[in-house]
Amino acid sequence: MLQAGVMERVIADPLPLLRTRTSEKWTAFPPEVLPLFVAEMDYPLAPVVAQAIVDRVRASDTGYVASPGPLAPAFAAYADRTWGWSVDPAAVRTATDVSVAIVEALRLALSPGDAVVITPPVYPPFFDLVPEAGGIVAEVPLVDGRLDLEGLERAFAAGATAFLLCNPHNPLGLVHSAEELQAVASLADRHGVIVVSDEIHGPLARAGAEFTPYLSLSGAARDHGITVTSASKAWNLAGVKCAVLVTGGDRMHRRLSALPEEVGFRTSLLGLHASVAAFEHGADWLAGAVAAIEESSALLTELLATHLPLVKYAPPSASYLAWLDFRATDWGDDPSVRALAGGVALNPGPTFGVQGRGFARLNLACGPEVLTEAVERLARA
Ligand SMILES: Cc1ncc(COP(=O)(O)O)c(C=O)c1O
Repeated sequence: MLQAGVMERVIADPLPLLRTRTSEKWTAFPPEVLPLFVAEMDYPLAPVVAQAIVDRVRASDTGYVASPGPLAPAFAAYADRTWGWSVDPAAVRTATDVSVAIVEALRLALSPGDAVVITPPVYPPFFDLVPEAGGIVAEVPLVDGRLDLEGLERAFAAGATAFLLCNPHNPLGLVHSAEELQAVASLADRHGVIVVSDEIHGPLARAGAEFTPYLSLSGAARDHGITVTSASKAWNLAGVKCAVLVTGGDRMHRRLSALPEEVGFRTSLLGLHASVAAFEHGADWLAGAVAAIEESSALLTELLATHLPLVKYAPPSASYLAWLDFRATDWGDDPSVRALAGGVALNPGPTFGVQGRGFARLNLACGPEVLTEAVERLARA
């Protein structure tokens, strides 16, 4: 269906309502703490997505998932409309969530003890998902906030089996350029490395940042790449459990045919229908959410300049995570400790890798009052 193209206004729920939520963000800390850590949004669900879930619940349609069903064409149409990426619906499979999709994709590629490259500072569970799949983490840290192509080449030449690419990159909100990704694809091609591209933050790329889906790059990328993604970050659906694995070539398609049937079966039916609604009808809400995140980011820049001028912050080109550099302050290796003592929960930088020492991650998908109060609390801390 064609999108109406009218941006919806997206406004964070008020704190008393947010505090009635039972998710990680709202239960991990006592109520006096402002939770700006885990990547959950404070916005109300997109009405079309909420309606899709309510409709299925009203129909008592809460059984098992039989197949990707309407999700495969919905995702393929979304990818084409949004990025000009042509996806064969027959090459779309589902999994419980992106974390499970990563583990299952890696499991098919790895023999026990094989090296899997990750690029810290990076989404902390990557350090655990690799061993869960039987691999060993090989770190090729970002250099000056970009992929280290020479480092990747060295790691690939040293025998890495796979590269777990964070595209766009959490926590920097970094959108890798098509040229950098092309370079990654030729290196992976040359060294026989499988690339698992985690594109969960892709729909949240800013206009002008030009997010490139890995499988849209080239035949070589499609020959060795698997994309794992979901509507769960962009439409705040982590709790309804649905992700997709996508391949673009026969070789990877055949490889994924070895996925146990159970992997798809464990997807949530509510998550599947919520994702269909998001991909088919969620563009106007998403545009509103991205606009709200941009306002939040601009406010954070102002607030830091006023209250915490030593904390450095470069606005992300994708997603809603602010990677705050406290190294010019006396807050130490883990600034989240002092932040929490001051009543604000942030993600500890060192959990993203040793490169995260002196950093903390702040969630921008909140209302301006919460953000203002949080930075004022940090300043008092
Ligand atoms: C890069 C990245 N991958 C995966 C996930 C987790 O996704 P899921 O909840 O679908 O496992 C996140 C969550 O923030 C993330 O940032």
